[in-house]
Amino acid sequence: MIRGHGVDIIEISRIEAAVERWGDKFLEHVFVPSEIEYARKYQSPAKHFAARFAAKEAVFKAIGDQPNLGWKDIQISNDSFGRPQVRVKLEGFKAKIFLSLSHSKTHAVASAVITE
Ligand SMILES: CC(C)(COP(=O)(O)OP(=O)(O)OC[C@H]1O[C@@H](n2cnc3c(N)ncnc32)[C@H](O)[C@@H]1OP(=O)(O)O)[C@@H](O)C(=O)NCCC(=O)NCCS
Repeated sequence: MIRGHGVDIIEISRIEAAVERWGDKFLEHVFVPSEIEYARKYQSPAKHFAARFAAKEAVFKAIGDQPNLGWKDIQISNDSFGRPQVRVKLEGFKAKIFLSLSHSKTHAVASAVITE
């Protein structure tokens, strides 16, 4: 049964501007080391950061009102096929989350579905 759904879209230039302005401080505030390492493997890391930023927003929306949930409590990884996976560090949270990401030249988008 579907218990929640969230979607988010972001301009990649917003992430580029934040990185330019705040550098690693911004990245380390929002992303865990494995997410930073993943994005930096690519020639254009910003689109992968943007996709992960959108993913965290989408998961926030899907989970609902959880004021104690921080950026780094939602962790995105990729399995051996490249499919995005989510880990949520929230006490008692056991639901399964299905996440899908996409990026174009200008935008990144994420959709998250929570099931039982
Ligand atoms: C995996 C694939 C779907 C990615 O699509 P794309 O248009 O190149 O790139 P998008 O920007 O839309 O999506 C990229 C995201 O897809 C996700 N992704 C990668 N591999 C995936 C997979 N096997 N399954 C689901 N999602 C995947 C990742 O999250 C990736 O973003 P990230 O690297 O920042 O985590 C594509 O490379 C592919 O293999 N296509 C096969 C198409 C095909 O066979 N079509 C014929 C049948 S319809």
